[in-house]
Amino acid sequence: MQIYIFAVQNIIMKILIINGPNLNLLGKREPTIYGHLSFEDFFQELKKKYSTVEFEYYQSNVEGELINKLHEVGFDYHGIVMNAGAYTHTSIGISDAIAGIKTPVIEVHISNVYAREEYRHTSLMAKNCLGVITGLGMNSYQLATEHFIGLNS
Ligand code: DQA
Repeated sequence: MQIYIFAVQNIIMKILIINGPNLNLLGKREPTIYGHLSFEDFFQELKKKYSTVEFEYYQSNVEGELINKLHEVGFDYHGIVMNAGAYTHTSIGISDAIAGIKTPVIEVHISNVYAREEYRHTSLMAKNCLGVITGLGMNSYQLATEHFIGLNS
């Protein structure tokens, strides 16, 4: 008699999505630029789509809290998808935190920052990130997630 043992595929990777200032207002904030979907609704769909990924979501409007979060998970997780909002263009602290951790970070933006005001054309964090995805709406987060899945499969 033959006995077959099938292993159940468990959660294989951990991804943290971080949103910075004002992104708690997605769905209500300037919908012509950022769309009508709340991040929470999008996040539920993302979790359903990639069931082998353990996702965590963190949002803060406070620069130091974003840095603390990067330190907290930055040695354990497989990937961080980060939309630092306006801090992208101003925060040396967030850029240094990304340089100081082990987990790779992909910078994402909903809008195409290069098609907007000049002060949005500079990212202080990009040089310490694995890559940058900008202008693809909420799909920017999904594409960054898929890249991490590809790296870890
Ligand atoms: C943003 C672009 C930033 O310039 C802006 O400050 C944001 C959102 C984006 O996702 O398009 O808050 O990061």
